[in-house]
Order: sequence, then C-alpha cells, then structure tokens
Amino acid sequence: MTKILMDMDPGIDDAAALSVALNHPDLDIKLVTTVAGNVTVDKTTINALKIINFFNQGDQVRVAAGAVQPLIKPFEDAARIHGESGMRGYDFTGSLPDPLEETAVEAMHRVIMASDEPITLVPTGSYTNVALLFSQYPEVKTKIEKIVAMGGTLGRGNMTSAAEFNVFTDPHAAQVMYQAGVPIVMVGLDVTHKALLTNETLQEIEGMNPAGKMLHDIISSDGDKNENGVAMHDVNTIFYLLHPEFMTTKDYWIDVQTEGPANGETVADIRGAYHDGKTNAQVCVDIDAQAFNDWFKEQVQAMKM
Ligand code: RIB
Ligand code: CA
Repeated sequence: MTKILMDMDPGIDDAAALSVALNHPDLDIKLVTTVAGNVTVDKTTINALKIINFFNQGDQVRVAAGAVQPLIKPFEDAARIHGESGMRGYDFTGSLPDPLEETAVEAMHRVIMASDEPITLVPTGSYTNVALLFSQYPEVKTKIEKIVAMGGTLGRGNMTSAAEFNVFTDPHAAQVMYQAGVPIVMVGLDVTHKALLTNETLQEIEGMNPAGKMLHDIISSDGDKNENGVAMHDVNTIFYLLHPEFMTTKDYWIDVQTEGPANGETVADIRGAYHDGKTNAQVCVDIDAQAFNDWFKEQVQAMKM
C-alpha cells in the first residue's frame, strides 16, 4: 500500500486521476489539497469534493484548499479547456462534504509529519502549495519518499512553444520544487501527449458503470480532445506509480526558466555539463500508450460506487 498525498487543480484530468486513485487497493490517499490552476481554487476545491463524494469517500479522504494564486506570476486559468466550472460535462448531485478548516500547507505538514511511513507527493496542478510547504516546513522533506509530478516538457509546450501549463502557471514554485533535494519523477508532456486515451477507450468506458459514464462525459468535454483521442495528463502520474515498467525514464538535472519568452520552460542538462553531472529528476521520456489505455479501462471497470 503506497501512502500518497494528491495536490491538484481539478480539472478534468485531475478528476480522472483522483477517480482511479480513490478506487485502487494499492493506494492510500492520506489527503487531497487543491490549488489555483485550471480554474480558481474555490472551484478546484469543489471539484475535488464532487469526485470524492461521487465515490462516497467523503469521510475517508479529506480536502484542504490551498493557494489562490501563484507565488509571483499573475494567475491565468485554463477554463477554455476544462469549462468555467473546471469540470464540465456531468451534473454531479448531492450535498458535498466540507473541506478542512486548515490551509493546504498546514494540512500537508500535519499529515506528512504524522505518517508512520514516508509519503509520496503527487502534484498535478501548479506547484505553489508544494513550494510554500517546503519553504515554511522544510522538515517535511525527510518524510517524503518521492514526488511524482505531472508537468514540464523536454519538447514542445502547451502554453508556449517551450512551457507546459503547470510549470508555466507558477515557474518560481517549480524551481523551488526542483531545487528542494527531494527525489522527483517528472511526468511531462513527453509521455502524456503520447499516451492519448483513444476515442475507442472512451466509448468502451461509457457503458461500463456509473463511474464510466461520469468519466466518459467529463473527459469527452475536454477542450483538447480531437479525432485521435485526448491526453489525460494527470492520470499518467498514477499509471507511473502503479506500473513504472510501462514508462522509460532518464536522469537529468532540470532547471526552470522564470522569466522571458521561455518563462516556465523545464530545461534538462542533457549532457550533464552544468551541474557537475548531478541530476535532480527521473524524467519520463517514453510510455506504452496501449498499456495505458488497457490499464485505464481495467481501472474504470473495477470502480465501485
Ligand atoms: O499541461 C497539463 C496540465 O495542466 C494538467 O495537469 C492539466 O490538468 C492542467 O493542470
Ligand atoms: Ca491538473
């Protein structure tokens, strides 16, 4: 059983990642925290609560709301992709559980320090909460096994030609995270753009069960969906956690650009020329896209309401 803390900005793909993690027997979600990203943090918090409530886990998995804006950069959302609510496409019913009174950083600190085993941090939004946590409570670093972060790219970006959304949203926070000295697995566009959920997969899950219908409906409304399918970026972090054998990684030192036209670019020292050969991340550079689709279908098939 892997103890994880998910920090997210649901967001359609965050919602899909949370759905899989909530239902997998080998994952123990100790806390969910939310951050401004795809939409404002009040909406990302409501969306996290909606997914947890959908699977009737409001008593077991609590949510703490986090940063309302990036550390320095002005906040820019991605509502054009995820809808004004941040999770368009499905009408979630029922009253929601309350979020915790604590802030995300306070709750992260409490949960991590109280854990009897190291925790894996899974950020799938901007890394603002993570940077604030490390700045305010550096002692947590010794109790974090690793960070499996969706974000960044060694190739083309999706916000500019150089920058991926999560890092673009808060490049200063990303730089803090990559310099923190905690082991990082970078799950970037290099793999998430390869492992599209196909339209066939979406058609198959629709009829599987209520969870499949819900996921079909929100994923089908993702603004990035096209004739080849749709990237479920954040779901790849859970896929890596459970099946790293389907990913290829390379160790690099990653720096983050924090100004200029390439602001938010994740730059890999691919020759080991600028950091004495040291590395700070395992970067996912390839993925078995068919295995990802097959695995996702298996997860949905097994989702209990
Ligand atoms: O670039 C993709 C990332 O940005 C995903 O985490 C998506 O949810 C958005 O936050
Ligand atoms: Ca996200």
